[in-house]
Amino acid sequence: MEKTFAIIKPDAVERNLIGKILERIESKGFRIVAMKRVLLTLPVAQGFYHVHKERPFFKDLTEYMCTGPVVLLVFEKDGAIKAWRELMGATNPADADAGTIRKDFAIDLEKNSVHGSDAPDTAAFEISYFFSQTEISS
Ligand code: CMP
Repeated sequence: MEKTFAIIKPDAVERNLIGKILERIESKGFRIVAMKRVLLTLPVAQGFYHVHKERPFFKDLTEYMCTGPVVLLVFEKDGAIKAWRELMGATNPADADAGTIRKDFAIDLEKNSVHGSDAPDTAAFEISYFFSQTEISS
């Protein structure tokens, strides 16, 4: 079963949207296999988003991710990586399709409510960045 990694970002946690987002995940047939709510530190956010470190939005993005608690998740289903990206919608909510999480909940490109891994290698890195094997149970 394919696993993917997700973050419910500070803007969504702050607006009490954890339950609504988890309901969408479970109702699409994903099984949540690991979950925790944490306040990221700047070094941890910078390490997580290291692939973007040369991008102009890196400083704002990493500082934003530390403005409030986030929920870290691992969930699985067949084709989980692609299915979760479809359920999230486009990175910029202005471009997201109707019925996607970002279309319905996101505020803007930075406060876009959720993150998801974009490929198997990034999913493996992102899962192991935050979770040990003993914290993941199918
Ligand atoms: P996420 O899926 O978490 O991956 C990187 C994040 O950078 C992205 O969602 C956006 O929230 C944020 N971001 C800010 N500006 C941009 C941009 N110009 N292009 C892509 N991502 C951006």
